[in-house]
Amino acid sequence: MRVVATTEAPLQTRADTIAVGVFDGERVAHDLPGEPLTALLDSGEAGTESGRLALAHAERRRLILVGLGKREQFDAEAARVAAGRVVARAAELRARTLCWELPHRVDDAVAGGLVEGTLLRDYRFEPFKQAAPDDPPRLQELIVSAHEDVSEAVAAAALVAAAQNRARDLGNRPGNDLPPRVLAEYAQQLASEHGGLQATVLDESEIVERGMGAFAAVAAGAAEPAKLIRLDYDGSGGESPLTALIGKALTFDSGGLSLKPGAGMHEMKFDMLGGAAVLEAVAALAELRAPVRVLGVVGATENMISGRATRPGDIVTALDGTTIEIDNTDAEGRLVLADCITYARRERAERLIDLATLTGGVVAALGSVYAGLMSNDDGLAAQLEAAGRRSGERVWRLPLDERYAEMVKGRFAQLTNAPLPREALAITAAELLHHFAGEVPWAHVDIAGTAFDAGTPYLDEKSATGYGVRLLVEAVRALNG
Ligand code: BES
Ligand code: MN
Ligand code: ZN
Repeated sequence: MRVVATTEAPLQTRADTIAVGVFDGERVAHDLPGEPLTALLDSGEAGTESGRLALAHAERRRLILVGLGKREQFDAEAARVAAGRVVARAAELRARTLCWELPHRVDDAVAGGLVEGTLLRDYRFEPFKQAAPDDPPRLQELIVSAHEDVSEAVAAAALVAAAQNRARDLGNRPGNDLPPRVLAEYAQQLASEHGGLQATVLDESEIVERGMGAFAAVAAGAAEPAKLIRLDYDGSGGESPLTALIGKALTFDSGGLSLKPGAGMHEMKFDMLGGAAVLEAVAALAELRAPVRVLGVVGATENMISGRATRPGDIVTALDGTTIEIDNTDAEGRLVLADCITYARRERAERLIDLATLTGGVVAALGSVYAGLMSNDDGLAAQLEAAGRRSGERVWRLPLDERYAEMVKGRFAQLTNAPLPREALAITAAELLHHFAGEVPWAHVDIAGTAFDAGTPYLDEKSATGYGVRLLVEAVRALNG
């Protein structure tokens, strides 16, 4: 979809469909000749309650009047939701070019929200199943019409939403189509397309030789080789502190010998969405030419079964020398992340943010509305919470505690990957990571509940959400700003 901003009035554009919002207690700012929108409001067919939609025609255009609710409550997230509703209606109307008339006196974040909501709601995953002839067409163009020049905010939002949609594509691709090898090739292609981005891939043999015993143990049962994918971007000429973004990318998680039940196993193609969000967030920061320095580290592997697979009870040595007893091969994400965290620390990252579909525990606690945030640094945690509110990808902090850390101590090795009793699952997983982060400011975002099938109004498709791209872009920019 092409996305542009203009200071022309909607009727002067080539849009076939025009969206106009109206707040509680306000009138339509610029009605069209014949006042069709005011007539809709006066007759009660349209209303200002948020989400209410009504339709009119004028000057051979379709007009969608959308209620925006209370002006004081209309933030970027409300704009995403409103835009999502408008896109759904516009698709039914077979719209091809949509123009949003930006409401008066709103800030740039609202303009950005309208753009994001439009692009995210228009997304389809089509590589394996083309649209049927009678399916609504996709939008070809979005025009944001405003009195002021909002082109910068509009372009930035379009770029970030496109990155999020690419992360959704990666997530929706099945395990056979996107093994670690292909994800690594994808990262190299991203780097070749975006200036200032550099990709480096460590093969499984290097993962083993460097002593990443925890990561290697997860990869052991798979025929497809594991990859550690590294993406570097520096938009600050070495000036700003190095932030590592670390992602779990299990391109398929069968559970290993501690096999998952069959019913939901197919969903474990989504177990790479932390890694996908990291790759696309770094790419978006590069495209934005943000004055920041980031290191993306993505641990990509399958978790499979074979004669070489890790057995429950096996003891491995992680990159930093810590011994870990693998009591459940399905608690694999923390093993991969442990070595990725040590890798990032050795690269002298000054703060660490990891994103992972890590535990069923976080799904039980927070569902698909908030991701779980756990951190050893109150300042970093607060920055992520604030970035979550701005981006609409919200996080809720759960505690770390010496007594939880106690629970991950192993019986036969220093740590266990599956503590008993089976309690506080999201937090004990984080405490294992905490051991490897040590004193370095670190935040862990458990996205198991938000990464797919989240029911977010402007995401529509029940599939990968691309959760975390907006959050990470927002957080990294704020950390350096
Ligand atoms: N990938 C799963 C977590 C998951 C669950 C992601 C639901 C998305 C939706 C992870 O590898 C896993 O299996 N975690 C186990 C750990 C347990 C064995 C200690 C869990 O949370 O049940
Ligand atoms: Mn697992
Ligand atoms: Zn997993």
